[in-house]
Amino acid sequence: METLAIKRTAQIGSSVLYDTEDETYCLDTIPLEWSGIGKGDYRNTPAELKMPDGTYTTDFSYQNHEVMDGCISMETLPSAYGSAEECRTLTLLLKDESNRVTLLLYYTVYEKTDVITRRAVLMNDNERTLTIRKLMSMQVDLPNDAFRIITFDGGWIKEAHRHERPVTYGTFVNSSTTGDSSNRHNPGFLLAVDGADETRGNIYGFNLVYSGNHYGAVELSNHDLARVCMGINPHCFEWTLKQSERFETPEAVMSFSSEGFNGLSAHFHDFVNQHIVRGDWQGKERPVLINNWEAHFFKFTRGKLLRLARRAKKVGIELFVLDDGWFGKRNDDHAALGDYTVNRRKLPRGLSEFSQRIHRMGMRFGLWFEPEMVNSDSDLYRAHPEYALNTPGKTPALGRNQLVLDLCDPQVRDYIVAKVTHILDTCAIDYVKWDYNRHISDACSPCLTDQGEFFHRYQLGLYDVLTRIFRGRPHILFESCSSGGNRFDLGMLCFSPQIWSSDDTDPIERLRIQGGLSYLYPLSTMGAHVSEAPHQQTLRDTPLTTRFNVAAFGCLGYELDLKYLSYVQRREIRGQIAFYKQHRNLLQYGRFYRGETEKNNKVMWHCVAEDQSTAITGFYQMQASASEGFDRLRLMGLATHQRYSLSTHPQSLFIKRFGALVKHILPVMLNPEGFILRMANRYYNLTDCVETYTGYGEALMSSVPLNNQFIGSYYNKHIRLLGDFGSNLYIIKVAPETETKAEVAN
Ligand code: GLA
Repeated sequence: METLAIKRTAQIGSSVLYDTEDETYCLDTIPLEWSGIGKGDYRNTPAELKMPDGTYTTDFSYQNHEVMDGCISMETLPSAYGSAEECRTLTLLLKDESNRVTLLLYYTVYEKTDVITRRAVLMNDNERTLTIRKLMSMQVDLPNDAFRIITFDGGWIKEAHRHERPVTYGTFVNSSTTGDSSNRHNPGFLLAVDGADETRGNIYGFNLVYSGNHYGAVELSNHDLARVCMGINPHCFEWTLKQSERFETPEAVMSFSSEGFNGLSAHFHDFVNQHIVRGDWQGKERPVLINNWEAHFFKFTRGKLLRLARRAKKVGIELFVLDDGWFGKRNDDHAALGDYTVNRRKLPRGLSEFSQRIHRMGMRFGLWFEPEMVNSDSDLYRAHPEYALNTPGKTPALGRNQLVLDLCDPQVRDYIVAKVTHILDTCAIDYVKWDYNRHISDACSPCLTDQGEFFHRYQLGLYDVLTRIFRGRPHILFESCSSGGNRFDLGMLCFSPQIWSSDDTDPIERLRIQGGLSYLYPLSTMGAHVSEAPHQQTLRDTPLTTRFNVAAFGCLGYELDLKYLSYVQRREIRGQIAFYKQHRNLLQYGRFYRGETEKNNKVMWHCVAEDQSTAITGFYQMQASASEGFDRLRLMGLATHQRYSLSTHPQSLFIKRFGALVKHILPVMLNPEGFILRMANRYYNLTDCVETYTGYGEALMSSVPLNNQFIGSYYNKHIRLLGDFGSNLYIIKVAPETETKAEVAN
C-alpha cells in the first residue's frame, strides 16, 4: 500500500492544514474518497450542504464499514441488479458528528463485467433541517496521466457524436439542464490515458443511472490530480432533509480497461446487458419491426396500415408498430396529445380489432404513446389545464406545440397510468414506443413547496409511472424514444430494453450516432431502421444495401412505405431480413469492436460471437476518393490460431444508381431515363463483387487487402463498386483445416 500511496513529505505553501498535529496533512493535495467544504479542499466538491447548524462546513469522517454479497437496491431510483454470486457491496458509513448527519457510500463490485457502481445516501438525524444544494453520487481522484476526456454530444438528429479534448487545469463539465439526460451531452464519458486508442491503452469510463439533469465534471488540480465527480446536476436543485429523512443519489457506473476504447466498451456492454436491462426481454433477441411513421406520418387509414402490414409480413417483418396519429384529433402535431382514445375515422373498428388483425397476420403489434405531454388543443388540457407545467404569471413556453405534464403531481401520474394501461390491457399489444418530444421549461409544480426539488421529483414521478405500467407487464417490449436519442441513458434502460437512437436514419449519420453510442451502450439497446433515400433530413442518397448494413448493427427495423419499392428492392429487403434473423444473436449480443483504418473516409465495425466461431464485419465508405490505394480489411476479435473463411455477403446493385454509366456493362447503348432501363431497374439488378478468402485468425486480423474499387478505367465482376456511401458486410466463419482457397497474403 505504501508503495502506491501518494507521498506527503513536505508542507506545501498556501495550503490549509486539516490537522494541526500534521504539517503535511492538507486535503487539497491528496486523493480523497469523499470531500466537502470548509476544511481546506478547494477542488470541485461532491457536496454543497447547508448543514443543520446553518453553515456550509462539512466534515464527514469514517465510522465503520460492511461488506456483503449482492447489491442493495434503492428505494426511490432504478439501479443495477446482480445476485449474491455476481456482485459484492461495500458500505462505508461516515458521520459529521457535530451536525448528526450521516453519509453512506455504497460501492458494488461486478467482478465479471469489471464494473464498480457507486452512490451516496445522506441521512439527517438532527431535529433541524438540512438543505442539499449539491450531492454527487461519487467522486474519484486520479493522478493525471495526460488524460483526454471523451464526451458524446450533439442535438436532434446528430446525437452522441464523439468529441475529445485534453484535460487541462480547471474544470470541464459534461452536463444537461434540459430536464432530461439530453441529446446535447450524454451522461456517459471517458478518460483516456495519452496514446490510448481503440485497442490499446488505459481508459476509464463513467456513466450514471439517471434520466434527468446530470452533471459530470473533471477538474485537474494544481497538484495534478484529476477529480471526477458525477451525479444530479446542482442546477436549480435544492432539497430539504428534515429529521430522519434520507436522500438517495443515482447510481454512478465506473469501469477501467487497459485494452483501449473497445475494451472499455466491452465492460459497459456486458454490464448493461446483464445488470441494467431486465425483465422478459433481458438477453432476448429483438424482433424486426416496421414502423409506419416515415411511411405515413399522420395520414393513414386502416386500409393503408393493413396494406403496409401485409407487405411487411411478406418480407419477413415480425412486429408492426403504429406510430403517432392513432388517437383523438391527432392529424398533425398541434393537437390531441393526452387524449388516448382511438381515432375512429382512421380506425373505424377500433384499436383492439386492429391489433388482433395484425396478430392474425402472424405479426406482433406495437403502439406509440407520448404520455408525458399534452397539447393545449386537447380534451385533457381543456378538462385539466392545471396538469400542464406552468410558472404562475407567465405564459408557458411551447416545444413542438406541446406542454409537459406535471409528473410531480400524483393525480397526473394516476391519469397516465390509467390511460396507458387501459389500452395495453384491452388491445393485443406486444411493444410500446414511449416518446418524449421536448425539453422541460416552466419547471414548477404546485405540489411542491420547494421548486428546487422539481427536476428530481419529475424523474421520480417518471420512474413511478414506468414501474406501475411495465413491471407487471414484462412481456411488453418497451422502446423508449425522445425525439430520437434525447434520453438515451442507463435510467431508461432499466425500463426499456431498447431506445430509438435518433430520428436520423441516414446511414452515414448513423455511423457517427450508433458509433458514438457504442462506446457506452450495447447494440441490443439501439433501435436502427432502414428508411427512404434521399434521406428526409440530409437529402443524402444512399444505397439500400448501406442503409441495411448500418442498421444491421442494432435492433433492426424498417421505416418506409414498402409500396413504393420495386420488386428487386423488396426482394433485397427480404434477403436482408432473412440474413439478419440468421445472425441476429451475433448482431445484437456479439462482442462489438469499432475498427481502425488508416483512411478517414472509411468506417469498420465488427461483431464477433462469444465462442469466436462467427463474425460479421461492416466496411463503410463515406466520400469516395478517386483512384484510392488498397482497402484493407483488418478483422478483430478472432481466435489467432483458428482457421476461418471470409466472404462478402452478396448484395444487389441497382441499375438506376449507374445512370448513363450502364453503357460500361451493357453490350448495347440504352437511354438511362428510357422505358427499358426504368423497367429493368424494377425487375433486375446486378450483384456486387464477392470475395472469398481463408486464413488463420492472426493473418485475417493483420489485414486482408481487398479487390480494387471501380475507378472508371474498366469494369469486371471482381471490381468493388462502392462510390459515395457504398458498403459491404463480410461473414467470417470457422473453416476446416483442409480447405484450400485463395490464401490471405500476410
Ligand atoms: C418523434 C419520434 C419519431 C416519431 C414522431 C411522432 O419525433 O422520435 O420517431 O415517433 O415523434 O410524432
